[in-house]
Amino acid sequence: MARGVYEQSLHAFTGSRDGSPVAAFSAPLPPQRLVGTASGAPALANSRDVSTPRLRLDRVTVDFGKRRHPAVDDVSLSIAAGEFVALLGPSGCGKSTLLNVFAGFRAPTRGHVYLDEQPHLGPSARCGVVFQRHSLFPWMTVVENVAFGPRRLGLRDPLGIARELLDLVGLGDVSEAWPSSLSGGMQQRVGIARALATKPPVLLMDEPFGALDAQTRSLMQEELLSIWDRLRPTVVFVTHDIEEAIFLADRVVVMEALPGRIAREIQIPFPRPRSHDIFDQQAFIERRREIADIIRVEARKSFR
Ligand SMILES: Nc1ncnc2c1ncn2[C@@H]1O[C@H](COP(=O)(O)OP(=O)(O)OP(=O)(O)O)[C@@H](O)[C@H]1O
Ligand SMILES: [Mg+2]
Repeated sequence: MARGVYEQSLHAFTGSRDGSPVAAFSAPLPPQRLVGTASGAPALANSRDVSTPRLRLDRVTVDFGKRRHPAVDDVSLSIAAGEFVALLGPSGCGKSTLLNVFAGFRAPTRGHVYLDEQPHLGPSARCGVVFQRHSLFPWMTVVENVAFGPRRLGLRDPLGIARELLDLVGLGDVSEAWPSSLSGGMQQRVGIARALATKPPVLLMDEPFGALDAQTRSLMQEELLSIWDRLRPTVVFVTHDIEEAIFLADRVVVMEALPGRIAREIQIPFPRPRSHDIFDQQAFIERRREIADIIRVEARKSFR
């Protein structure tokens, strides 16, 4: 059975297996310098070197043994340091299962998971996790929630780290508040600050904005990109929302259902920083249509 959300949060902060509680983010990259490629086409200066993946799945299958098909079937995927990957697909195609494998919460039935090319065998402080519904501890103030990870890892000045992160997400002025007194968007920002407080090189997000209204969601997307631009963690972002995936990601991985496999990987060419204006561009519309066509077919397969 999947672990409770609080328990997963606890494991994310305490499950370091390698004795090195804190890993630095990948070095910040310069903003959107365009460089030439061999083909003459411009490429982003921060294009990723996929030959040295930060995260790698090697033929991963997760079979809960309850259905005819495994939830995830023979999936291989490499994600480079600093890359932003969106995982998209119809309900039940195995997105959360894959994210839990990345987080070390769920061991694959077959196949292997690597973090920086080392076997990734369980929850680790090197992976921050943000869930759809914020998983803040209701018995702690906002700043104590964010300080929780640094405190558990024995870092110096956990409250100072927490305040810095709260400033980063624009919530420095509510640090002494209780989570229940904040709006849904603010709670999710605290959740992001908490996931980032141990400076994990990897940020795993499972529909983090799924419960927010459209306006807040759109602001949160911009906020996330701005945080990512400053810190450059490797992000795996699960979403149902095609536009959100294209807006945020360097690469959209579209999954098919029954069994859960990768249907297609689509590179997203828009330079950064991005604004929601790209929604009107022809390249955006074409990718949206391409992805929607795949998902429509896959959703029908699993809609029984
Ligand atoms: N703990 C579990 N035990 C048994 N089956 C499970 C378990 N967790 C997930 N599944 C099954 O695995 C499949 C994939 O589930 P998963 O939650 O990963 O899908 P998802 O793509 O995240 O769906 P959604 O978009 O609705 O969140 C589903 O058929 C689900 O019923
Ligand atoms: Mg899910």
